[in-house]
Amino acid sequence: MEYDPIVKGQSHRTGVRPNLSDYEEFWRDFRWEEMMGELDGLEGGGLNIAYEAIDRHARGPMKDKVALYWEGRDGRSEEYTFSDLYRLTNRFANVLKRLGLGKGDRVFTYGDRIPEIYISLIGALKAGAVIGPLFSAFGPDAVKERLGDCEARFLVTTPKLAGVVRGTVDDLPSLETLIIINREKTACELNEKEVDYEALMTEASHSFDMERTDKDDYAIIHYTSGTTGKPKGVVHAHEAVVGHYATARYVLDLHRDDIYWCTADPGWVTGTSYGIFGPWSNGVSQVVYEGGFRATNWYRVIEKYKVTVWYSAPTAIRMLMKAGEGVAQKFDLSSLRYLCSVGEPLNPEAILWGNRAFGLPFHDNWWQTETGCIQIANYPVQDIRPGSMGRPFPGVRATILDDNCEKELPPGEEGHLALRAGWPSMFRTYWNMQELYDSRFRNGWYITGDRATMDPDGYFWFVGRADDVINTAGHLVGPFEVESALVEHPAVAEAGVIGVPDPLAMEVVKAFVSLKDGYEPSEELKRDIKRFARKKLHSVACPRKIDFLPGLPKTKSGKIMRRLLKARELGLPEGDTSTLEE
Ligand code: PRX
Repeated sequence: MEYDPIVKGQSHRTGVRPNLSDYEEFWRDFRWEEMMGELDGLEGGGLNIAYEAIDRHARGPMKDKVALYWEGRDGRSEEYTFSDLYRLTNRFANVLKRLGLGKGDRVFTYGDRIPEIYISLIGALKAGAVIGPLFSAFGPDAVKERLGDCEARFLVTTPKLAGVVRGTVDDLPSLETLIIINREKTACELNEKEVDYEALMTEASHSFDMERTDKDDYAIIHYTSGTTGKPKGVVHAHEAVVGHYATARYVLDLHRDDIYWCTADPGWVTGTSYGIFGPWSNGVSQVVYEGGFRATNWYRVIEKYKVTVWYSAPTAIRMLMKAGEGVAQKFDLSSLRYLCSVGEPLNPEAILWGNRAFGLPFHDNWWQTETGCIQIANYPVQDIRPGSMGRPFPGVRATILDDNCEKELPPGEEGHLALRAGWPSMFRTYWNMQELYDSRFRNGWYITGDRATMDPDGYFWFVGRADDVINTAGHLVGPFEVESALVEHPAVAEAGVIGVPDPLAMEVVKAFVSLKDGYEPSEELKRDIKRFARKKLHSVACPRKIDFLPGLPKTKSGKIMRRLLKARELGLPEGDTSTLEE
């Protein structure tokens, strides 16, 4: 097969020898145990992600190295060394213990990307909690659903966001305490369940005896969407840090002197695996920018902090492309040496554009909330085959299975992308849904839910999802959760939700809605339904477009046929309609 490799030995071009200098050799010699051997473990046995990320550096020659360069959305900046973070996270662990936290209790965060959120997450891990970071863009019902599902005891949030969830707290009997971070010292009256972060931190000691955790103890929960049912809590154990560490080192190619920036929010697994644990377990300085996307602001961050390694997502890259190369040229971006991307298919034009705008291509990699760390990647030593996700990380075995998920298919044939179960950061369960978890495995393979092909050289090519899940701007949206939210609107009788193509976000959410008797379609009603959805869902999950239909196509058993809605929307063949209701 002929490809158009556009990069040859790119990291040699920037004069940095890649950590992974020979893929085949690395693959042959790779042992996960050796990766574990590069971490410290707890004295006397055990493993804790927080110790690997912070404490081990804070106790050695790197203690005064800046771990976090924080840039607020208003331009304020702060710096935290490993030793600062060591003390602050110890304090927060003490705060939680004083409030009665027990090992394995769930501590959630719901806030913007401010240092206290990072400190809380790491402090909670030290105290033996299971952490659940949530996007600040979630509406009250989305927060309630997640906290309720795993019976969270603590929520760390801000005055503004506490205001969003106050109305739901009574429906969450397990939620004992809201810890309020009040950076701006705004007037904020705390109710009986709420305590002040700053006051408790000031009183707490900066020494803490880390809770003894084992590699298999649960550590992190991220909620993710499937085709049916509510979002599921994907649970990771402390051993996940072995995967974070190894892939940050050998895929993101992090070196000790790098300044690294991952643009993802910790509400998404990328923002924890690679926006907290991967870089810090490697002792690398990282930038966290609180603000949202704006091409000029992003370039300013790169210029100001002299970012060397940058990890972002295709939608953001397409937005930068839209802003134009001219904007990039106004900034000194010469510090950049390595660029990576994840979350959605990275279109070849975006790779080529990176080459033009920065003199560097984006390296695509593939993984999921469930996999915990990167599984398939383009590496600095290899040519990029534009459009391919790359080759499996050494230590990961990937394959393509047939429609029954039984037989491995030869190169070139499309099927289910599957991974040999058992890598350290593989998810350990779906919270309270063990049966669903078990159903994701077949004959020792984890079935990813993606369809793909593999070429004769072992490069994997993404084809699409095997289910109805929508990928909008890199975020997975389950149509069922959107439909469930919409039918709660007083005017909505039924709703069917699909993804429709979008030049920037890859897909956007579109809803087809039939109305209850007595309601008439109107633009105002559409706006009202959208406003209603915003309260219940993450902002990206809210339907961008709504069409009213007199009725929705359903199977004889009453299931809405999203496939048919999609085919009709896109003008594609309708396929088998024999199960369609008369
Ligand atoms: O469908 C694939 C898509 O995103 C899904 C995983 O989403 P999530 O669990 O939210 O992601 C967490 C961290 C990435 C995958 O099943 N996806 C992810 N990366 C790629 C991708 N699709 C195509 N190319 C990629 N590089």
